[in-house]
Amino acid sequence: MARILTGIQSTGTPHLGNLLGAIRPAIELAHQSENESFLFIADMHSLTQVKEGATLRENTYAVAAAWLAFGLDTERTVFYRQSDVAEVTELAWYLNCFFPYQRLTLAHSFKDKADRLEDVNGGLFSYPMLMAADILLYDADFVPVGKDQLQHLEMTRDVASRFNHKMGETFVVPKELVRDETQLIPGLDGEKMSKSKGNTLDIFADPSALKKRINKEIVTDATPLEEPKTPEGSVIYNLYKLVASNDDVARMAESLRAGGYGWGHAKKALLEAVVDGFASEREEFNRWMSDKGALDAELAKGAKRAQEVAQPVLNRVREKIGF
Ligand code: TYM
Repeated sequence: MARILTGIQSTGTPHLGNLLGAIRPAIELAHQSENESFLFIADMHSLTQVKEGATLRENTYAVAAAWLAFGLDTERTVFYRQSDVAEVTELAWYLNCFFPYQRLTLAHSFKDKADRLEDVNGGLFSYPMLMAADILLYDADFVPVGKDQLQHLEMTRDVASRFNHKMGETFVVPKELVRDETQLIPGLDGEKMSKSKGNTLDIFADPSALKKRINKEIVTDATPLEEPKTPEGSVIYNLYKLVASNDDVARMAESLRAGGYGWGHAKKALLEAVVDGFASEREEFNRWMSDKGALDAELAKGAKRAQEVAQPVLNRVREKIGF
């Protein structure tokens, strides 16, 4: 049996990139009977950016509701909030002591965030070791992630191997799982979709807000309505391909090429595909968000099971260290 583990930060409500790049594939894997899965909400990682308790809590609920709305079965998986299993911070400290400072300075995600964010704190810098602890604390074999997390996975493998080499076999060295077709979901500006870049397609948002964002944020060229257009390379078409059926995608491509079909029509079709295509998930999301008690109960159940696995692993590490 393979152990699968993955996490999502609670910096906001999950967007299309998180959902197609991480949540949906992770649920598919988690529900396969040969796998045992640990899925969690990385609220401690979010603390590097979000400093208001109420916002952090609300975001955590939104991430939990998104997993559940996409059909996660919490009987078949261990579903928990990172901060409920605080053992992870102890392991993160140990790992920090076994990883060269110099290697941390090479992290792309730190450099990228340090260039953009005002609050460049120490947590942001040692972020990869907390992530490594998330994974190593549960003896995970496979970690499904988007392409942007590959360097973090490399660091996890690296610190696990360094520790094993110095202190004797202790950690399972995990492997990443990246799906080709959903590797990197583009945002409304064609760059990687990311909350911190403000280019997200928020499928749980209210339709009028969604419409406003699609109309305002997706930039199109000025080709007149009646002229033929090239679908390939257009942000609208690329996003549409991710959310619409093959037949509808072929129809949009044909209409664009034929002329007499404007980018405004394509934007409308994209909005409809999101609102109608994810109608049941949107409904489920709202239902969970209106019952925080039920969300808390799900997460508490998961935390208990997670702790039962984490404790013996941590004891193994303490013994190796000599404590
Ligand atoms: P986070 O919260 O930024 O993203 C969660 C997951 O969504 C994927 N993702 C995307 N995939 C495709 N296209 C996109 N535009 C896109 N944007 C995000 C990410 O690759 C990720 O898989 N550090 C992690 C959270 C984390 C974690 C872990 C993950 C903490 N501990 C342990 C795995 C294992 C993060 O910031 O992901």
